[in-house]
Amino acid sequence: MTTGSLLAADLVIAVLASAAWLGGGAASAARRRPLALGLAAVALLATLARVITITALARAGWWFAAEKVLIAAPLSLAAVGIAGPRLLRAPGDIRAVAVPLFFAGYATSSALLVTILHGYPASAGAGLLAVAGVVAATVISGRALGAHLPRTVSRVALVVAVAALLTGTGLTVAPGAAPAVPHDHGSPAARIADEPTRRFTLTAGTATVDAGGRNVAAWAFNGQVPGPELTATVGDVVEVTLRNRDIGRGVTVHWHGYDVPNDQDGVPGVTQAAVRPGQEFVYRFRADQAGTYWYHTHSASDVGVRMGLYGVLVVRPGPATGLDVTVPVHTLAGRPLPVPKVEQVEAGLPVRLRLINTDSTTHRYAVAGTAFRVAAIDGVDLRGPTPLVDTAVLIPAGGRYDLVFDAPATPVALFVDGRAVYSTGPVSTATGAWPVLDPLGYGATAPVPWSRFDKTFTLVLDRGLDLRRLLPRYAHTVNGAADPDIPPQVVRRGDVVRFTIVNRSQIVHPWHLHGHHVLVLARDGEPATGSPLWLDSFDVRPGEVWEVAFRADNPGMWANHCHNLAHADAGMTLHLMYS
Ligand code: C2O
Ligand code: CU
Repeated sequence: MTTGSLLAADLVIAVLASAAWLGGGAASAARRRPLALGLAAVALLATLARVITITALARAGWWFAAEKVLIAAPLSLAAVGIAGPRLLRAPGDIRAVAVPLFFAGYATSSALLVTILHGYPASAGAGLLAVAGVVAATVISGRALGAHLPRTVSRVALVVAVAALLTGTGLTVAPGAAPAVPHDHGSPAARIADEPTRRFTLTAGTATVDAGGRNVAAWAFNGQVPGPELTATVGDVVEVTLRNRDIGRGVTVHWHGYDVPNDQDGVPGVTQAAVRPGQEFVYRFRADQAGTYWYHTHSASDVGVRMGLYGVLVVRPGPATGLDVTVPVHTLAGRPLPVPKVEQVEAGLPVRLRLINTDSTTHRYAVAGTAFRVAAIDGVDLRGPTPLVDTAVLIPAGGRYDLVFDAPATPVALFVDGRAVYSTGPVSTATGAWPVLDPLGYGATAPVPWSRFDKTFTLVLDRGLDLRRLLPRYAHTVNGAADPDIPPQVVRRGDVVRFTIVNRSQIVHPWHLHGHHVLVLARDGEPATGSPLWLDSFDVRPGEVWEVAFRADNPGMWANHCHNLAHADAGMTLHLMYS
């Protein structure tokens, strides 16, 4: 069983246990003896079953089990210890066990709330609040049922409630507030003034675009979605003038995966101010990395990218050879945008499909009718990629895969999520059952260039209640905090930095660090065995633990966030900062 399914199973069992204890309490209060005993038996079994799931989660990593071991386990033990013996003595008047059963129900549900609302790391404040809630609810139920509760219960209730109030703010206080983000701008223009320059203008504006035969309202660069494809040759200087015609939320251009100098990175509030309607901003950087990239607004990025403010950036080492096409996949107004059609190609012609996922969720791609190789991922060439047949690839939000093959004489088709987006003739469409490539084991291995790390950081991804804003929100959190309260990761230039990224939530988080490609070291404790993988976007699935590393060689203040942009907006953004 994967850790992800264990997390889900544990959650389901915990819900079942809570519901059964509470149901048992209600049934006994209503003197429904068989029902009460049946529900109590289910509750008992479910509670005991959690010994197995919690132990297994703790073995997969303390991050997955901390609050369950420290808070849920003691509360569940108390539930079993108090309700169990009374049930076994099953008195003639079943109503007498109602309060112990309610107590068990409150104990298991408050522990469940700690997992759902607070998550990792477990804190004393959360534990005390949970206990206070249980005691208070039990006392109230006892009163309502006219049960006689020992004096000590109320005393304990009072003490715990006061302690919870005093420490309970631990629920809302994140460890150390994030320092203000500096705004220092270099002048790249001066550094790279007289080199061959590729000039582009991107004008952002509201537009109505044709999305496969229907008109939809969009936000577009130069009136089109995607925006114009920007191409350059290694060594060129790219100069892009961004104008904002009428996007009220402001616009910037972020060069996704392109490790530009910090002041060109296009993150509003961090590397520049958002460009307001009527304003402009000029980006300049040297195109020194070949490969497939994309650009998008980083101002109100969730809605901005979804509405269409994105485009492709391709940097080639020299003139394009063969058929070299980009396939930016995007969902506009809820439906997949059609990708530009390719003409028939003659057999033997080398083909490069640059697949780009510009959505916030993973897409599955399959090429049918030919063997192919994955030549590059996230703009970086792989070492020794071998031919693949009848194999699908999963591209995370923001990620890119370059697939290469020689055009066969027979038809070829490209499928995205089972839908044919290109085809040069009829091919088998049963790509749904194909195995999926695991890039961590693909291509020829090479040693990791570092043996020690100057800095290590752990990012535990979860959900939690964020009470630090005017309106409370159910945030996507990193180490229990939400943007802007996640402490930045501080490194020095030249440091070799290692990140451990742990997903203890129930959803995929496509992780994206700006300004650097990271080398994948291991996933779930298994070292990567294929070609070195230098990624800028990778899916951390529920229950997964990724180890990645990079050299801190690009000074500045860099966003480090989930590229499900709704998650990034809802708290899952922090910063990497050079001291
Ligand atoms: Cu493509 Cu910070 O994002
Ligand atoms: Cu996410």
